[in-house]
Amino acid sequence: MNIFRTKAASPNAFCDTGLKRCLGAFDLTFLGIGAIIGTGIFVLTGIAAANQSGPAVVLSFILAGIACTFAALAYAELASSVGGSGSAYGYSYAAFGEVIAWIIGWDLILEYAVSVAAVANGWSGYFENALTAIGLGLPAVLTKAPSMGGVINLPASLIILILMGLLILGVRESSRVNVVMVFVKVLTISVFIAVAAFNVHPENWTPFMPFGWFSEGTGGKPIGVLAGASIVFFAYVGFDAVSTAVEEARNPQRDVPIGIIASLVFCTLIYIVVSGLLTGIVSYKDLNVASPVAHSLQLLGYNWASALVATGVITGLTTVMLVLYYALTRIIFAMSRDGLITSRLAKVHPKTKTPVPIILGCGVAMSLIAGLVPLGELAELVNIGTLAAFVLVCLGVIVLRFRQPDLPRPFRNPFGILLPVLGVVSCGALMMFLPMVTWIRFLAWLAIGVVIYFTYSYRNSHLGQAQSLKPE
Ligand code: ALA
Repeated sequence: MNIFRTKAASPNAFCDTGLKRCLGAFDLTFLGIGAIIGTGIFVLTGIAAANQSGPAVVLSFILAGIACTFAALAYAELASSVGGSGSAYGYSYAAFGEVIAWIIGWDLILEYAVSVAAVANGWSGYFENALTAIGLGLPAVLTKAPSMGGVINLPASLIILILMGLLILGVRESSRVNVVMVFVKVLTISVFIAVAAFNVHPENWTPFMPFGWFSEGTGGKPIGVLAGASIVFFAYVGFDAVSTAVEEARNPQRDVPIGIIASLVFCTLIYIVVSGLLTGIVSYKDLNVASPVAHSLQLLGYNWASALVATGVITGLTTVMLVLYYALTRIIFAMSRDGLITSRLAKVHPKTKTPVPIILGCGVAMSLIAGLVPLGELAELVNIGTLAAFVLVCLGVIVLRFRQPDLPRPFRNPFGILLPVLGVVSCGALMMFLPMVTWIRFLAWLAIGVVIYFTYSYRNSHLGQAQSLKPE
């Protein structure tokens, strides 16, 4: 058995693949910001400040941001040299071989699908609040999953179906809607910053690090700034989604690295400012609520600003779902085109130039999951999956530098392999700070993936079939 067979990394990956090439650097940067700013900053900042980091949550954001910067540079190098809509899956196919590529592809499916369904649950909560505020609240049975005493979380289910329609329509159309909604969410964050900047009470920043760097809290749950970093890491998930747009970018080798790095830098700066201000305007102890940013403004008496921020949250979470859903379909498209998932799915509609069967399949599945399963605690599962992908992408840069030194690299990390090595170490360390139960769930998911690989994917791999046809 040759489970480590590799696919050649060649610039041919940048040729026409049937998808529509219509995205420029601006669209890609907005796709990144669309996927990045969401639950992490609007919800998790408060929870991490109250339970893990205290006012030092700003340090947690800086540490997670540094780890992501190393990973983003690695993604930029591989997106511009290896290419393909499969992102980390495709890079692993070139660097490590098929079985590792499959495992990371399987892991990315978990990352994106769970993110979309989990964010849909959060979105539904805010949407329901907004409806209730204007007197149109839905009955509880239609806003809760069966295990929570309802029948279905209808808003969570429906928003995914609406995004499904948009993604089927076309990538240009989706990108335009994304740009408008990103403007709205960035505007509302600017309003928060402007109001908060004049209401800081520096005494809220002391004690700065009430939970220390890292220790075991009640119930064995890790606490401290490092544990906080591994939680708020979720806020950065999404810049990697830009790398799945390589086959739809007009000038991928230049614009995809720009999109990845520009969106990450922009969001990191916003996160540092927002988390610093949030813990400066109210005590970190008051932030353990579902909507800490809006709540803090309410505590200060700015009800209008609080309502505005709620609008930002609703649009913000919508773009997160849109872009992560988009990335999910492109990863599955790449895996299915390689035969590792049934290749019957890898069809592009002649008119819309989008992979319609995959968008439909993912939409229906995620809509059911989001409607029927409450996914509160799954952010940590997304973090571990994403961090594993980041570690492999950094390792991929290192391996390909040795294996294929002459591969054209329009974007190249400076200082040799130093930055990807730091990426492996920092992303690996963040994985270590996640709770044991998250590790167990993650390994269980990977174990299912390994079984599918050996029972289906290995035999149906197009690469494997091509190799077995070759004369010895
Ligand atoms: N980064 C995205 C969010 O915070 C997943 O919602």
